[in-house]
Amino acid sequence: MPFSLTLSSVSLLANPTTHYLRTKNPPHSSSSSSCINIRCSIDNKPPPPRSSSTKPTSWVSPNWLTSLTKSITLAQNDDSNIPIANSKLDDVSELLGGALFLPLYRWMNEYGPIYRLAAGPRNFVVVSDPAVAKHVLRNYGSKYAKGLVAEVSEFLFGSGFAIAEGPLWTARRRAVVPSLHKTYLSVIVERVFCRCAERLVEKLRADAVTGAAVNMEEKFSQLTLDVIGMAVFNYNFDSLTADSPIIDAVYTALKEAELRSTDLLPYWKIEALCKVVPRQIKAERAVTLIRKTVEELIAKCKEIVEAEGERITEEEYVNDSDPSILRFLLASREEVSGAQLRDDLLSMLVAGHETTGSVLTWTAYLLSKSPSSLRNAQEEVDRVLQGRAPTVEDVKNLRFLTRCINESMRLYPHPPVLLRRAQVADVLPGNYKVNAGQDIMISVYNIHHSPQVWERAEDFVPERFDLEGPVPNETNTDFRFIPFSGGPRKCVGDQFALLEAIVALAIILQHLTFELIPDQNISMTTGATIHTANGLYMKVSQRQTASAVA
Ligand code: HEM
Repeated sequence: MPFSLTLSSVSLLANPTTHYLRTKNPPHSSSSSSCINIRCSIDNKPPPPRSSSTKPTSWVSPNWLTSLTKSITLAQNDDSNIPIANSKLDDVSELLGGALFLPLYRWMNEYGPIYRLAAGPRNFVVVSDPAVAKHVLRNYGSKYAKGLVAEVSEFLFGSGFAIAEGPLWTARRRAVVPSLHKTYLSVIVERVFCRCAERLVEKLRADAVTGAAVNMEEKFSQLTLDVIGMAVFNYNFDSLTADSPIIDAVYTALKEAELRSTDLLPYWKIEALCKVVPRQIKAERAVTLIRKTVEELIAKCKEIVEAEGERITEEEYVNDSDPSILRFLLASREEVSGAQLRDDLLSMLVAGHETTGSVLTWTAYLLSKSPSSLRNAQEEVDRVLQGRAPTVEDVKNLRFLTRCINESMRLYPHPPVLLRRAQVADVLPGNYKVNAGQDIMISVYNIHHSPQVWERAEDFVPERFDLEGPVPNETNTDFRFIPFSGGPRKCVGDQFALLEAIVALAIILQHLTFELIPDQNISMTTGATIHTANGLYMKVSQRQTASAVA
């Protein structure tokens, strides 16, 4: 989940700032190698050019306090073996004010795959090494907790299992995960993923006729909200047709979680201040709207389940008229409070919306920059689907398209960093010591872009993942590829999300083709996920192939 930002990562930015990194040197496709191309030798590639950014203005994260924190927290008796990033104040302020993962990448090139960083009020150990990431993620529960993530996003997730810790998390994850079973996923592919994508294609067809420039990032965000609404609640937000206030509310709430992670003074813990500070008023309104919407949907569904006396009768239970996760959870008759159920479902809604939208956005961008990959993907879709809508079985054969999505998630991981906090003193692989209470930032972006881990790390090469091999994940790449995290807190929606993205792109590519509107600045900023700063504008046109029009 992007937010995972929220959930998982909380990127440390105070003000949205744009970074113009990729416009001049966009990733490009090229040669085909047929294995997972993991590099083990050290490559001294020079760091990429500095990105430009505007200065942050947050009064709660002034530079002098960052500097003070650094000298107090880092000066004494550091026997951890972890190099300290000697970031200039300008760098730190850039980190506080911009897309976090970009300066983190620069420092990785300077200090190596593990370094310590004072950022505003906090001191982080930044990890860009797959072995250390594996150790920290796998030891969730015994040695590591979510820590900061839970602190700064509780106002939104309440006790939802995306941020809960300990026995509550164990119990709620155990209750929710069975709802995402195989039969559910195949029903949802047909009834939700395909139908929502077809509706998007219908909308885009109108734009194809007029030749209007379409902001695809916006369209993908609407599509994924409609999908998660139907899949989790059996509710049609219909945001492809009408503006949905939920999209803005989710964005506002996730942004607030990020801001809280860098605020030097957690003034938002004082209730009276939350009633007068405009940023807090806005955040509270957003959360109220999201909660109210979820509560109403639960209440309606509960009435039906009670009236019908419905109960789960088999393991892979799906109600034919309402296959949603909500219906499954209510029919399972698990003892759970109304607020807990609301917070768990809200976790799914938030976690499952923006993340998949961002994956679709960046995959469309990468394909539009790589005509040969776009052509390959279209040919595959035509050959496998023969003009039909995809089924779960078809998805298994859309191997190249799947690799395009995998590769997009390598170059643009959502969220770009994951946070953990050490519960006990520990020694990390490589003999690096951390104390109890240490905040750790796993830079997924760095691991995925590291020339020590990947050959041609900056290039879009879908073929680097063997087409005949398994879909890459954290286990079969030994934590070199961790877009869904790993260990006990790994994303519960990974299969759901991959199916959703593959089906949506397959249906779009089947009927339409797209090209970037020239001369736009496609720059990155972070929300919960990696966003474009100004949208992704494309011209879409109807495809004329026989199978596309069948
Ligand atoms: C491509 C889309 C997605 C990406 C990239 C993604 C990524 C992630 C990541 C990285 C985490 C783990 C965070 C950590 O380790 O701290 C996570 C957790 C989670 N994701 Fe996803 N996610 C996606 C889609 C979804 C969907 C569609 C759902 C729901 C249907 C979902 C539900 C969740 C939940 C509930 C958690 C919290 C799990 C826990 O803490 O036990 N995600 N996601």
